[in-house]
Formats: sequence, C-alpha cells, structure tokens
Amino acid sequence: TAARTPRHFLDLRDFDGATLRAILDLGSRIKRMQHGRARPLHPRQPLLGRALGLMLSKPSTRTRVSFEVGMRQLGGDVILLSPNDMQIGRGETIADTARVLSRFVDAIVLRTGDTAALHELARWASVPVINGLTPASHPVQILADIMTFEEHRGPIAGQTLAWVGDGNNVATSLIEAAALFGFRLRLATPATHAPSDDALAWARLAGADITVTTDPRAAVAGAACVITDTWVSMSDTDAAQRLVAFAPYRVDAALMANAAPDALFMHCLPAHIGEEVTEDVFEGPRSVVFDEAENRLHAQKGLLVWAMAGERWQDYGQED
Ligand code: CP
Ligand code: NVA
Repeated sequence: TAARTPRHFLDLRDFDGATLRAILDLGSRIKRMQHGRARPLHPRQPLLGRALGLMLSKPSTRTRVSFEVGMRQLGGDVILLSPNDMQIGRGETIADTARVLSRFVDAIVLRTGDTAALHELARWASVPVINGLTPASHPVQILADIMTFEEHRGPIAGQTLAWVGDGNNVATSLIEAAALFGFRLRLATPATHAPSDDALAWARLAGADITVTTDPRAAVAGAACVITDTWVSMSDTDAAQRLVAFAPYRVDAALMANAAPDALFMHCLPAHIGEEVTEDVFEGPRSVVFDEAENRLHAQKGLLVWAMAGERWQDYGQED
C-alpha cells in the first residue's frame, strides 16, 4: 500500500487558511459541547483507542497540560515521554525513535530546543508530528491566540495586531498567521532582535500587510490587540544583555494608551511582571491572557481530531 503523508503540524505556513480555519472551528465546536466541568462530557469520544506521545525536552506547563487533558477529554490516552529517560538520551537516533514510536502511538507532540530534530522526527515518523515549540516557531500557541481574539472581537481578518518585544518563535508563527488569516501586523523589536527575515518574506509574498519598526508606539498605534512575550526564551543564553536591550519595549499603561481604546492585551505565558509587561496591564480589564491559556486546550482538541480522527474529522460534533 502506498505510504500516506501523515498529518504533521509543524508550521502554520504548511497550511492554507481554510484548513486552519476548519481546525479552529472544530475546536470551538468541541469547546461549546464540552465546556464546563459541571456538565457531562459528550458521550462520543472521537479518539477512543488512540494514544498521543508527548515528548517534551524543555519545561512546559500549558503545552503539557492542555495536550494531556485535551487528549483524555477526546477519549484517548497520553504517554508522557521525557527524552532524558528514553534511549534517545543515550544516543538512539531520531530516525529509529520515530519509527519505533510510530508503531505504538497515533501522534507525537515534540517540544525541543533543536529545530532540526522536529523536522527529522517528522521525516521518519509515519504518524502525525505536532510542533509543541521549537526555538523557531510555536504554531499551536497562535491557533489559541486567534481563537481568543475572535471570541472577544469577532473576525480577525482586516484587524490590526501589534507585537512588541522579541522577534522570537511566537512572533514567527504570528507573522505566518497574518498571511493565512488576513490580519494586519505591526511588530516593534530592537534591531538586534528583529523577526525572522524568512518568515517576513514568506508572509509578504503570500500577501500579508506587515510592518516592522523599532518604535513600540508606532507599532501599537490604533491596534486592536497588543501582544508580547518573555524577553528571555528557553533557548536564549544572553539574559543579561536582553534585559537591557528590551527595556524600551515594556508594555505598560502608557503604551496601551496608544492602541485602540478597547485594545486587548495577550501574552502566551509564562509572564515576567515588570519586565515585558507591567502588573496593571497584565491584571487589567483588557488582558485576556487566561482565556488565551485556556484556548490552548480547545484549539488543540480541534487539532488532535484533525490529526487522528481520519477523513471524516470535520463531522465530529456536526450532528448535535
Ligand atoms: N505558552 C506555552 O507554550 O506555555 P508552556 O511553556 O507552559 O507550555
Ligand atoms: N518564547 C518563549 C515562549 C514560551 C512558551 C520561549 O520560547 O521560551
């Protein structure tokens, strides 16, 4: 039988906007069906009998718990794989690990500090591989961010979003999303920490309206949402210099005052209060950071069903 390409989820740019939209719609539908702990779960469990391998070589709170709980709520099992406890920690190759895991589990989430390892795993795995963050991108986070924006403000297409701070992995996935979901994006970063040229070139070629500046006030002017992230990512080793370079990029009340009057504040978390964001903004009425964290669960449930439930994945929940 001809080998079929597994439904990998490595980067947003591998998709067309319609597929990502369908994944988010499914996540929202499941959210409505299953929301609230007091209500019984929907009896149908689309991933009953499936297993997800969660392979995390970096710390994680949201990614780990949202994939683990999400998979269980869909009726499936989760195996937490800590690379240090696996033979990969003593030299078994990614190629062999991928082929072995593919015989046991139905999809693999990988968080790694080595972006090439994600692509190597995907090359050899015959089951879907999902990017749970690399130093280069964080696509599952941006699915949740789009769901969150739209829950609060309606369709994201045509809106203006601002990114302030580091041109990092999360920024790269946001840039790709600007092209695929049709929103305008303004990024303010120090020149030394500019967003990925490659992501910018790809998104602009795909028609995105993206501005890059070093001026945070210019970036947030009139924006419907201001987004930031830590100044020191897990893959960064130059924390001291970063705290200096990013000091002018702190999101505070004065900066938010330049955005649209009802502008949302988002942050993928974990946050460092007093560094990239002040406490009044983080705790303020326009901050939707905990909705955003919750939506990791809902968006990824759509993604898990897409990846593992077969050709009729979009039918789930439609008949109710
Ligand atoms: N936002 C995010 O990915 O959080 P974790 O590092 O806790 O998974
Ligand atoms: N940019 C951050 C995101 C953490 C979820 C990091 O890579 O550490």
